[in-house]
Amino acid sequence: MIVSNGGDEKAVAPSVPLKIAVFASGSGSNFQALAEAVRDGRINATLDLVVCDKPSAYVLERARSFQVETFTFSPKDYPSRQAYEEEIIANLQARGIELIVMAGYMRLVTEVLVEPYYGRMINIHPALLPAFPGMDGIGQAFEYGVKLTGATVHFVDGGKDTGPIIAQQAVEVRDQDTLETLGERIHQAEHELLPQVVGWIADGRVSLNGRIVTINN
Ligand code: GRF
Repeated sequence: MIVSNGGDEKAVAPSVPLKIAVFASGSGSNFQALAEAVRDGRINATLDLVVCDKPSAYVLERARSFQVETFTFSPKDYPSRQAYEEEIIANLQARGIELIVMAGYMRLVTEVLVEPYYGRMINIHPALLPAFPGMDGIGQAFEYGVKLTGATVHFVDGGKDTGPIIAQQAVEVRDQDTLETLGERIHQAEHELLPQVVGWIADGRVSLNGRIVTINN
């Protein structure tokens, strides 16, 4: 991965294969799509850790079935967001994690994570950003009545889904759609888009210059 900021270009050479941590709070269907792509050799990476803030989340079962280690915490056990992020960082650094993939991690992150991982931390959002950021991007777009929505993968900058956009996949809203049928097609799009983007990063093809992201051949 090449990270460039306002002319001050720096190359972050990933080790081969790229060491990834997935952050998730819920079902983990995006984790599953990624884990299958890694298992099948479609991404030159290893999934080394799942970080989860909900001890009952189904993603933890999925992680176990792929034999991926987990770090689970309850935010209420810590005095601040910074305090649990310090512990997360220690876990990431102990494993040499090079890329953080947020896949349904329902928390904003602070400088504790953003500063060391800027340009190496991505998120998937179920809408075409900058439209419908935050919670329930699918429902927001459906209620608004847009004809086109989709999924976005972007770098994380600490804001609410505000970081530089890497890739987007559009999903048409059909007249007969319900929230459920639209949601299913958006999740399908996510399950294609996220492994594709992670594959590009693992292959060192993604560069970032200010807000502009380029995928190199
Ligand atoms: C996805 O729709 C993702 O875009 C959003 O949270 C959802 C997570 O789904 N950030 P899952 O846990 O991966 O099934």
